[in-house]
Amino acid sequence: MAYERLVQGAKMKELSVVVLAAGEGKRMRSGCPKVLHPICGRPMLSYILDSVSTLTDRVTIVVGHEATRVKETMGPGWEYVFQADQLGTGHAVMQALPGLPASGQLLVLCGDTPLLETRHLREMLRQHPPGGATVMTARVPDPYGYGRIIRSSRGQVEAIVEEGEATVEQRAITEVNTGAYCFDLKLLARYLPMLEEKNIQREYYLTDLISLFNNDGHPVQAYRLADYRVGLGVNDRQQLAEAAVMWRERINRGLMIKGVTLIDPETTYIDYGVEIGPETEIWPQTIIEAPCTIGDRCRLGPSTHLKGAVLEEGVTIRNSVVEDSRIGAQAMVGPFAYIRPGCQLGSRVKVGTFVEVKGSNIEEGTKIPHLSYVGDADIGEGVNIGAGVIVVNYDGRRKHRCRIEPGAFVGCNSNLISPLTIGEGAFVAAGSTINRDVPAGSLALARTEQKSFPGRASKLIGRKGSPGKDKSHHPDV
Ligand code: UD1
Ligand code: CA
Repeated sequence: MAYERLVQGAKMKELSVVVLAAGEGKRMRSGCPKVLHPICGRPMLSYILDSVSTLTDRVTIVVGHEATRVKETMGPGWEYVFQADQLGTGHAVMQALPGLPASGQLLVLCGDTPLLETRHLREMLRQHPPGGATVMTARVPDPYGYGRIIRSSRGQVEAIVEEGEATVEQRAITEVNTGAYCFDLKLLARYLPMLEEKNIQREYYLTDLISLFNNDGHPVQAYRLADYRVGLGVNDRQQLAEAAVMWRERINRGLMIKGVTLIDPETTYIDYGVEIGPETEIWPQTIIEAPCTIGDRCRLGPSTHLKGAVLEEGVTIRNSVVEDSRIGAQAMVGPFAYIRPGCQLGSRVKVGTFVEVKGSNIEEGTKIPHLSYVGDADIGEGVNIGAGVIVVNYDGRRKHRCRIEPGAFVGCNSNLISPLTIGEGAFVAAGSTINRDVPAGSLALARTEQKSFPGRASKLIGRKGSPGKDKSHHPDV
């Protein structure tokens, strides 16, 4: 049969798709329209759009609540139809109808079912009787909130009854409507105007079409999902979290198949679209937010948070945060480092314990191992920054840059007050506060000279009431 062949093929000529995304999503209790709530770093609506875009280019999105925001987020490339008042799922499809072809098949999908994949839609279409309707169903452990599938004694689908209208017996039915349907377009155009809003919600229910079709003898079928979980409809934040758990599983599984080691997939949170090279090992409690690109053979975590990071190969990051920065091959970060936006670390750079770096370029092999703040600095290769060094970039009004040329050595606990250049191979003595350029190869020493007063210590230590008299208080004496 010709239709069968169309369904098997890559894109289907006779197929149009309408995605319903006009609702506010009251149960989310949110200022953000429901379909834009993120799941693994991207709007919920993107997932169903991905699933349909491999089937056809004719995709219409019905928008209404916060329509501009939804359109701006999803971008051009889609046909948008505006539903000014959200009078129900049937009403939403009515708004799209004038723009649809007069014949062929129409997939109607909801923007809040982010787990349905192309293969599920394709499978439903394969079983769909042209000249009828198919509804995608699932048998769920808890049917609360979903429309129930009413079947005749012979198992024929007769109607869908919404939670609010269902009798006690109907509520016990565990086969539910997932909100995905296929309709013959000619029939749909004939029956949509017959929908009425005579129900508890005073809405035009798309689901009423099923009984209308059935009453007039048009074939109505159910395509039941083998795994009910992929039919999940997200109405509240609990279901949002459930959807995210399932998407995380998919993302993590995909990465493991590609050769990424996840020590504990359940506590590894990786956004959709993050790229990770093979042989990279990720330890528990690590969060990788999109966009991020991670090279081969990196070692990340435990307890590491990356966002907007590009990591070349062989990078190690332990117990640290990296934002909008690029880290060179074999670099080592952490434990307990904070790489803030705008940093580029060259290969084999070390940024160690309790070090914060911001807006800085740090070239190959440079080491900042302990307890430093480096703000707005350009540091050449092979520089050694001692423990506790602060690059003072802010004078209370403006930010300034500091340049440290290759091979320089900055002694512990120094302050480098920008704007400033430390020349190539220069040596800054520990404890210096430097506010003028240091020429290449120079030793800079900027601290008060030490004085020692022989015998004076016991006078200070021995003052009244002090440990000088009662040695038991003073552990060092
Ligand atoms: C709907 C179905 C229910 C099914 C469930 C599956 C109806 C009447 N009920 O209920 O049988 O089990 O989905 O998840 O269809 N929308 C619009 N315009 C509107 C109303 C809704 O575009 O006027 C959109 C929403 O943005 C959403 C989708 O349609 O993406 C579904 O609406 P929602 O209110 O979530 O319907 P449910 O109560 O879940
Ligand atoms: Ca819903």
